[in-house]
Amino acid sequence: MADQPGRPFLYVVVCAAGNAGDVGELITAAQRRAWEVGVIATPQGLGFIDQLAIEAQTGYPIRSAWRRPGEPRPLPPADAIVVAPATFNTINKWAAGISDTLALGILCEAYGSGVPVVVLPHLNEAQAAHPAYSQSLQRLRDMGVLIDDRQPSPPNAGGGAFHWERAWELLATAFPR
Ligand SMILES: Cc1cc2nc3c(=O)[nH]c(=O)nc-3n(C[C@H](O)[C@H](O)[C@H](O)COP(=O)(O)O)c2cc1C
Repeated sequence: MADQPGRPFLYVVVCAAGNAGDVGELITAAQRRAWEVGVIATPQGLGFIDQLAIEAQTGYPIRSAWRRPGEPRPLPPADAIVVAPATFNTINKWAAGISDTLALGILCEAYGSGVPVVVLPHLNEAQAAHPAYSQSLQRLRDMGVLIDDRQPSPPNAGGGAFHWERAWELLATAFPR
């Protein structure tokens, strides 16, 4: 699938949430819609996904750490970014402007670069009850980030069904036909 000029390029940012192993569903749906896909995983998120399967599916190496100075960029620039699943940790750090993982660095820069970003949070009610979380969501919304407003699940409930397709409904608002 890699390196097909003319096709828009989607970054999928994957965090360390319990459903991250199903991110292939999102990649398949993106490819059906003629997007090329590159995956950026948080360092913790790497342990939640099948790296070889995802690299075979996208045709690109998964990025998680910064490249060294002088190394070429492994991925083309993004036309859009989907953060799914998005953890409590990454959402709060991103809103606070913390950039200590490659995933956060890319998300923090997306605002200034004008790249549309969609977020599908995956967390439980106990995490969402922390006052920092609602403040983080508000700050990200004020930055133009498109956030799925599905309610968090009870603690230890496993998160329930995850609506990967919400990414397309939200992205459609950034790319109206
Ligand atoms: C099995 C397991 C499942 C987890 N699921 C979630 C989750 O759904 N949402 C969440 O916010 N954190 C979850 N966590 C906690 C995160 O992995 C942890 O906060 C981590 O630091 C997040 O790192 P990241 O945001 O850099 O990916 C889970 C942890 C484990 C061990």
